[in-house]
Amino acid sequence: MQPLNLHDFEARARELLDPGVLAYVEGGALDEITLRENAAAFQRRRLRPRVLAGAGDVDPSTTLLGAPVSMPIGIAPTARQGLAHAGAELAMARAAAEAGVVFTASTMSTMPLETIAGGGGLRWFQLYVFEDKALTRSLIERATAAGYRALVLTVDTPVSSKRERDLRLGVQAVEGVCGNFDPAEPAAVAAASITSNFDPNMTWDIVGWLRSLSPLPVVLKGIVTAEDARRAVEHGVDAIWVSNHGGRQLDRTVAAIDALEEVATAAGGRAEVYVDGGVRRGLDAIVALALGARAVFIGRPAYYALACNGQAGVHDALEILRAELINAMALAGAPSLRDLDPSFVR
Ligand SMILES: Cc1cc2nc3c(=O)[nH]c(=O)nc-3n(C[C@H](O)[C@H](O)[C@H](O)COP(=O)(O)O)c2cc1C
Repeated sequence: MQPLNLHDFEARARELLDPGVLAYVEGGALDEITLRENAAAFQRRRLRPRVLAGAGDVDPSTTLLGAPVSMPIGIAPTARQGLAHAGAELAMARAAAEAGVVFTASTMSTMPLETIAGGGGLRWFQLYVFEDKALTRSLIERATAAGYRALVLTVDTPVSSKRERDLRLGVQAVEGVCGNFDPAEPAAVAAASITSNFDPNMTWDIVGWLRSLSPLPVVLKGIVTAEDARRAVEHGVDAIWVSNHGGRQLDRTVAAIDALEEVATAAGGRAEVYVDGGVRRGLDAIVALALGARAVFIGRPAYYALACNGQAGVHDALEILRAELINAMALAGAPSLRDLDPSFVR
């Protein structure tokens, strides 16, 4: 049956995916309180629509870091997409390019970042910083050379978390060399492992280090407080991506949508602000856009759509979200993204 919404993709993917892979994708840390809260916090919000707003001609297009996108919904980085579908990240990147949205490739992608670049479209590179700085530097240089348009540094992963679904079903289901690393090099093999250690001693100096290596805009992914948003702005980042890693890192972290307002206020227009975690409907997107996000991103939903039907699945999921967002903007009386502000949400 043709999926009508993102929940339909998820239900179908549950039937298709290997149980160990499903545990890896759908799970979160510890009691999964933050995982559940991400979605629940969106569903608690209520809209305050405006009438007679001339909403016949809705335009969800915008720009992200200066590049045009057809809508403010993009694809968050998720590792090891080859476990979902043989098309892996290339299929996902192609679907994003076709839809005119941004695709963020994970450091831990199944395919090498150069292969993914063949998908065209607006691509950002998500960076994990390893203790091996030469390895990290080479990733940055490769991403810059391969036409990625931003470095998305994930900052919520200084150490790994305890994910009990993985422990029960065995992480070996998702082990395997990630395409960005040379299997002939011991440091690369260690980095590509599911238990790989990112640099736990990373501090704010990292922003200057990235700037010294690449002219690309820097996005910090994993900020959930005004305090860190202010520091990010002081360090000159181009964008702040509000995220708790889809509830996969520090359980009991505040829900992403609940963190958004204070971050957007602290950023004060000096950096773009994005959010991910629990976005499943165009309605979630409109709430986040009204509360100060310039864009929202989806993680698991894109992975599930890829598992269901490769590139075509991701394409369909994005078009469903687009239709839902356009419909929500029309019904809310906000035909342009500029019309949205926090007064639309209670
Ligand atoms: C299977 C899976 C793998 C992920 N891999 C990465 C990753 O490699 N890098 C990263 O920054 N975030 C990673 N994330 C987090 C996502 O980028 C995103 O923050 C999260 O999935 C958003 O929540 P959602 O799944 O509710 O949309 C991963 C998430 C999942 C579900």
